[in-house]
Amino acid sequence: MYITILGRQPELGIAELERIFGGKSISITSPQTATVEADFFDVQRFGGVPKAGKIVEEITASNWRQASQKIVQLFYDKWSKFDGKITVGISVYDLDVSAREVQQLGIILKQKLKKAGVSMRLVPNTEPALNTAVSHHNKLGLSPNKVEILIVGGNSKIIVAESTGAQNITAYANRDQKRPRRDAFVGMLPPKLAQIMINLTGINDTQNKTLLDPFCGTGTILQEALLMGYTAYGTDLSEKMVSYTHDNLNWLGEEYHKSFNFKVSAQDATTAKWPAQIDAIASETYLGQPFSAPPSPAKLEEVVKNCNHIITDFLRNLHPQIQPGTPVCIAVPAWRDSRGDFTHLPLIETIAQLGYKPYEFHHVSKNDMLYYRENQVVARELLVLTRI
Ligand SMILES: C[S@@+](CC[C@H](N)C(=O)[O-])C[C@H]1O[C@@H](n2cnc3c(N)ncnc32)[C@H](O)[C@@H]1O
Repeated sequence: MYITILGRQPELGIAELERIFGGKSISITSPQTATVEADFFDVQRFGGVPKAGKIVEEITASNWRQASQKIVQLFYDKWSKFDGKITVGISVYDLDVSAREVQQLGIILKQKLKKAGVSMRLVPNTEPALNTAVSHHNKLGLSPNKVEILIVGGNSKIIVAESTGAQNITAYANRDQKRPRRDAFVGMLPPKLAQIMINLTGINDTQNKTLLDPFCGTGTILQEALLMGYTAYGTDLSEKMVSYTHDNLNWLGEEYHKSFNFKVSAQDATTAKWPAQIDAIASETYLGQPFSAPPSPAKLEEVVKNCNHIITDFLRNLHPQIQPGTPVCIAVPAWRDSRGDFTHLPLIETIAQLGYKPYEFHHVSKNDMLYYRENQVVARELLVLTRI
């Protein structure tokens, strides 16, 4: 059993996990965490899961002092005969403790182990939980002598786990910023969100599967799909974007020393002809123009109408070209006004008439499927659909 630490928008991580492992295998343990019943968990595949760990114990304690004594004993028993030096980081989630109290647990463990002749380096805590960058840079969870203890509250029992690794934030930054072709106008889809969208198609075994992105832009979704093992197919209205995707995916192959299987061509998504075998669609569709402040009602109406028209025509064109049951995850625009309320695309209400049904999540409501930063007017609404 694994514990997963969820990202900035926990619901998106839960949705992603639910699609890959099934709703019954997921339990929400606290606001920031969920457990996953699985034999194997690769944290690098999940954009919404910064860290994960194997659960080693669930303890009951009436206060932090008691809990920390039990945790010290647990790891002392485990490591008192450890051969060599051990680096330990400690992260606490959803428990009311200070960084100092967490650090104190580490110091006591270090002192006890020292008496047993075992040398331990403690990663300093400035917060109760180490941030992903610290965990990643210290390589915690990646070898037996570099460990991160994850302690999770929020329930009647405290979960104690050993991390199996944190997201590789250096690799994400490279895949985002080092690509040769970037374009601020089409927007920058973060690679983590691209991973979330691909996982939301619910395909676990990606071998010999083809993923289509009909609004591929600079190719972020195709890039992440290739790294997950898909064959990638991309189209975009703009010749310039098609050449950008080409350059970016060629660069990816050089970076990862792999010969990836992909194809890109210039086509309008409302009339395009795609290849016969498409197993999944993940796409950030046309989002309309960017806004730095909420638009006037007349302007909003115009933009909503335009986006709704393009995306409806795209879904109509796609429908006869894919098999019933094919999963489709698209990001569509939703506009936030100054009160924080959203205007949604009208097509969402009539999606069944277009031949698609929304996936019903066990743990996440459809209002949670919005990705945005506080200052953004145009949010991305994630629609998780199945072709009827
Ligand atoms: C929001 S961007 C996608 C950005 C992309 N996810 C990336 O990683 O760069 C939308 C893209 O849709 C393309 N587009 C707009 N209308 C289109 C249409 N009718 N058919 C195909 N592509 C279209 C634009 O050229 C743009 O590249």
